[in-house]
Amino acid sequence: MTDANLMEKIVSLCKRRGFVYPGSEIYGGLAGIYDFGPRGFELLANLKKAWWDAVVYGRENWYPIDSGMFKNPRVWEASGHTTGFSDPLAECKKCNARIRVDKVLGAIGVTADEKMTEEEINALFDAHRAEIKCEKCSAHDFSRVRKFNLLVQSNLGDFTSEGNNPVYLPGEACQGIYLDYKNIVDSMQPKIPFGVAQIGKAFRNEISPRNFLFRCREFEQADTQLFIRPNENKEAYEALKEERMNWFISLGLNKENLRFKQHENLVFYAKDAWDIEYNYPWGFDELEGIHDRSDYDLTQHQKFSSVDLRYTDPETAEKYVPWILETSMGMGRLFLAVLADAYREDELGGEVRTYLALAPKVAPVKAMVSPLLKNKPELVAKAREVRALLRQVHPAIAWDDNGNIGKRYRRQDEIGTPFCITIDFDTIGHGDDAALTDTVTLRHRDSGAQERIAIASLPAYLAEKLR
Ligand code: GAP
Repeated sequence: MTDANLMEKIVSLCKRRGFVYPGSEIYGGLAGIYDFGPRGFELLANLKKAWWDAVVYGRENWYPIDSGMFKNPRVWEASGHTTGFSDPLAECKKCNARIRVDKVLGAIGVTADEKMTEEEINALFDAHRAEIKCEKCSAHDFSRVRKFNLLVQSNLGDFTSEGNNPVYLPGEACQGIYLDYKNIVDSMQPKIPFGVAQIGKAFRNEISPRNFLFRCREFEQADTQLFIRPNENKEAYEALKEERMNWFISLGLNKENLRFKQHENLVFYAKDAWDIEYNYPWGFDELEGIHDRSDYDLTQHQKFSSVDLRYTDPETAEKYVPWILETSMGMGRLFLAVLADAYREDELGGEVRTYLALAPKVAPVKAMVSPLLKNKPELVAKAREVRALLRQVHPAIAWDDNGNIGKRYRRQDEIGTPFCITIDFDTIGHGDDAALTDTVTLRHRDSGAQERIAIASLPAYLAEKLR
């Protein structure tokens, strides 16, 4: 959908229909923090399930983990985050707005390499100052550029006032996998190549959180790390890229809205890096990073911990530090891509309507059951029976008996419920046509088309659609 206001419409629908709320809203919120409401919780859980099914249960030799968030402070030294994980920041001298210098330079076609020193980036910024104006007040007067570290500190275990050994919140979730690598090898004896998957929280002191769930300060990353033999990266990397692209398409995302993009400037840990980008309402942007991390992580942790992290081949007794291929996807970015892809407006029955064309397997509610009239006990009893029957197929079967049937359908359309089932007088044998007894009206979300279907066939029908 091409629509300048699409983002606003999605944000508004998310709040109105219980998908996403601004964090601590009654206190005026907190920049870059969001809460998932009841519908969002279900959609997110369905996306996570689809991911686990593909990356762990659909493959051989993959292991799921769930590591603790806090880690020994040395971890972030070894990983390179205490020194290398920063964004260049400048402040508008007139209105104090902060800008990410690499982004504003990028917008005028100038590349600021991540490896540049503060001096180098200041020189580059100075050369282009005249072309850059403040997004808020349009002034051209900025402070010097400083490199701003993105790690978020905590005071865990710090009972003195000095605070000189901070325990950080995770800047990237994958470090938990590297730290558990040795324990997984010792306890599970996996043969290389093997993989480890995790969904974990990450925290970044983003200078300018923006675009709703796209750039937050607290978010979840769904990570896979494939441990391979040294130098056996090329073919496996290409296979991984293809597999991941196909997974996004299998979720129902429009192929046209997905593309690969190779990184020109590599982050400090990567040998090669590609993004899968999604065409968000503001254009193509990163949805998942696929990184060839070579032996960077395990070598660093081996050096800093002095623990031997080499893998011993069970057949040849050869020892080596495995190389790692990573996929890292922001769950919030996937959530937003799925909503943007599914958002539709059309006209039905002479009225404008909004609906989410979500694939049944990811929709937060699979079907809604309702009695035509809520003050007719026989209709209500039959409808309750039908709902109980369908809940044996899937628990997310809604009940709605508020307002007229048209309004109930519209409410479900907005949250992407693929099927609505109505119990009427024909269902209970009180209509004109006795042949319709024990049948219901099944309404399809996208077309609004309705058909009559036997109650006995409903469970198999729904199960088939959810597969
Ligand atoms: N372990 C590698 C890593 O963290 P990254 O490219 O910095 O790499 C991986 O992050 C993914 O995490 C991104 O592709 C994106 O989907 C998500 N992500 C990164 N920063 C984010 C933020 N501030 N808010 C939401 N998601 C973010």
